[in-house]
Amino acid sequence: MSTILIVDDEPTARETLIAMLEGNDFQLELARDGFEALQILDKMSVDLILLDVMMPGMDGFEVCQRIRSRPRLAEVPILILTALDDRASLLRGIESGADDFLTKPIDRYELAARVRTITRLNRYRKLMEQRENLREMAERVVVAQEEERQRISRELHDDLGQALTIHLLGIRDLQNDLTIPTEAMFDKLQTLYGQAYEVFIKIRTLAHNLRPPVLDTLGLRIAMQTYCTEFTRRTNLPVTFEAEQDMPKLPDIYNVTLYRVLQEALTNIIKHAHASHVWADLSMEDQTILLTVQDNGHGFEEGKTESNGIGLTGLRERMILAGGKFNISSSPTRGTIVTAEFPMPEGRPVTEVT
Ligand SMILES: Nc1ncnc2c1ncn2[C@@H]1O[C@H](COP(=O)(O)OP(=O)(O)OP(=O)(O)O)[C@@H](O)[C@H]1O
Ligand SMILES: [Mg+2]
Repeated sequence: MSTILIVDDEPTARETLIAMLEGNDFQLELARDGFEALQILDKMSVDLILLDVMMPGMDGFEVCQRIRSRPRLAEVPILILTALDDRASLLRGIESGADDFLTKPIDRYELAARVRTITRLNRYRKLMEQRENLREMAERVVVAQEEERQRISRELHDDLGQALTIHLLGIRDLQNDLTIPTEAMFDKLQTLYGQAYEVFIKIRTLAHNLRPPVLDTLGLRIAMQTYCTEFTRRTNLPVTFEAEQDMPKLPDIYNVTLYRVLQEALTNIIKHAHASHVWADLSMEDQTILLTVQDNGHGFEEGKTESNGIGLTGLRERMILAGGKFNISSSPTRGTIVTAEFPMPEGRPVTEVT
């Protein structure tokens, strides 16, 4: 059965539509204004929206735009109901994203015919259901990947890290226990200690990069800030990091993916760009979360690099799996800019501030 959402502020107009559509095996949902319509759409999928234009508070054009700005609702069919029979408002309706119009007073046969054509196909809902299934599957893949990384990280840190600590202490003890060590022997032990210590640091870094603990405890903004500061300390390359102060709590999959983008983008800059400055920016606009990482290095010509690298390909795949968009653009004069974008997740709690 198809579901139709009727949005009209006038009770009589709603009742007329109900009367015209009744008996056609439709489930009818009613909204008295744009706000109520958006609330209903947040909770359920509908097959068609019948939308009045002249409404107080938010007119039909604005409701239409808001619906279209939400990725999940970008393709739901919208029929605008208008008493305005002039070209200018029809044009405005199309610009706002409506699919078709019916002029008031509405002819019941015309309405029935249009509605039947749209709902019979019922393509929209099937498409959305498939997309939702795919998205859920992809999310499970990324979550499983992250859990595996977390497990390996713990193992590296706890098992190997601790075994090496004991090893290091052993060498120290040996150095202390030797009552009259020869200089050569002392140097050998010192070298052995140095080498083991290097391995220890590498394992620690690996463990931290596999699953940055700060991401779990302090949230994305601080994790990124910390990473940038640490990056500058290691490389002497200044990074200006800016982020929205009141960032809402994002799904875990967004956090880890955006963090990985930052890591790889900065690593690429240090490896390839010869830049003198980097700007990283985490912002929230309207319904999207956007990370940009830009450098002022010597860039590269797209399609002309002969790289066997897997960094960028991996990022692109991760972003798609997590439901986002990834882009890199570069030119020899402008440096390189990496962008990663996620739609604000609908229907998920986004109130907690980190
Ligand atoms: N910020 C940048 N400045 C200049 N060139 C870049 C930049 N980022 C990427 N590139 C170019 O794009 C290529 C592909 O990058 P990618 O991260 O996929 O691979 P890689 O860094 O070479 O290797 P890997 O990431 O697998 O260790 C690089 O080899 C380099 O030529
Ligand atoms: Mg790389």
